[in-house]
Amino acid sequence: MTDQTQATTNNYVGSIAPHGGTLINRRLRGEMAEATREMARSLKTIVLSPMNVSDLEMITVGAFSPLTGFMCQADYLRVVNDMHLANGLPWTIPITLAVDEETASDIRIGQSVALAEPDDAGGVRLLGVMEVAEKYTYDKELEAAKVYRTTEDAHPGVARLYRQGDVLLGGDIWVFDLPLATEREFPELRHTPAQTRRMFAQNGWRRIVAFQTRNPIHRAHEYIQKTALEIVDGLFIHPLVGETKADDIPADVRIQSYEAILRDYYPAERVMLGVFPAAMRYAGPREAVFHAIARKNYGCTHFIVGRDHAGVGNYYGTYDAQLIFEEFDPKLIDITPLMFEHAFYCRKCEAVVTAKTCPHGKDNWVFLSGTQVREMLARGEMLPREFTRPEVSKVLVEGMKRQRNSDAN
Ligand code: ADX
Repeated sequence: MTDQTQATTNNYVGSIAPHGGTLINRRLRGEMAEATREMARSLKTIVLSPMNVSDLEMITVGAFSPLTGFMCQADYLRVVNDMHLANGLPWTIPITLAVDEETASDIRIGQSVALAEPDDAGGVRLLGVMEVAEKYTYDKELEAAKVYRTTEDAHPGVARLYRQGDVLLGGDIWVFDLPLATEREFPELRHTPAQTRRMFAQNGWRRIVAFQTRNPIHRAHEYIQKTALEIVDGLFIHPLVGETKADDIPADVRIQSYEAILRDYYPAERVMLGVFPAAMRYAGPREAVFHAIARKNYGCTHFIVGRDHAGVGNYYGTYDAQLIFEEFDPKLIDITPLMFEHAFYCRKCEAVVTAKTCPHGKDNWVFLSGTQVREMLARGEMLPREFTRPEVSKVLVEGMKRQRNSDAN
């Protein structure tokens, strides 16, 4: 298949180059899309997992530049063992398409397959095609140990890895229809990297700091965001809305809480909200680097890494996600990580502080664990205002109540 989508260099606007220099676009349009859609109907179909559906979207819109498809073995092995792609660019998370052995045994190298997502009627909806360049087996325990730093299946990322198929298919993808989620889940906030780059330029922002989160914005988040904003032109709040673990607060409730806090506490001309459609891996340090590189593709020049970024349970040290950046050539990462200490409210300071900036000690500091937060919300209680703005608490309490009611029905 001739490559109609490969972009030329300097195909982007903005003050920072995408990872690898080119903003990837795997979306087919017009006649090419029509012809490929038609051809896909006769191909063997692979129904993607929720994570792979979001990976497909991320690859297609260039958020995972320079990736043009699911990883072949040379990239996979180098990423797992050495946190770089085969071409030497930093990359920390494998982006792979796993299938079971039976499916793999039917597929020849060089064959094109159709990629699909489940539709509402119990059937499938074709999204694009992949030219299978390689199929290969892999060592799940090795991937778990290297990427997640644990082989325990109590870790949600490891559990997902152990559940997936035993053979990986690698090859470039061409996409004629983006997943249904792009129409249904926050379409007005689902800006592609090309769009955010244009929006930043229109705002006149040259230095943009991105904030990744899978939680509502708490006072500590607000503190580190605004501290970062002091030294750049704009703040891009970029919550992850792809697959998360079941007990994380659902994305639709979170989005309402972001809109509430932005309305009341953030300057509209300096702050932009968008959604990051990737699935959460909970890979802590490795995911922090991955999150930073993806935000570079969106045109951000700086990236916030606070305490236990993308962590889960006690698998990672509080600052491991900051230390890992020392293992890379900063010129190749290019986006600047802004590291923040654990922040919390101090009753004596009457402000959010860190151990670096406050002399008062633990007795005056307000800490709340994720579990405590979930328990309070489950009981319908507002969170302490030292921890969360009341406007945010209100949205969370109401959202969780709605969810409990709909779960009960
Ligand atoms: S996650 O995607 O990194 O898992 P989370 O919402 O927990 O999302 O955190 C978002 C960002 O804020 C991360 O960079 C994290 O390190 C940082 N962060 C969260 N809580 C704190 C805190 N109390 N102090 C400093 N940084 C924090």
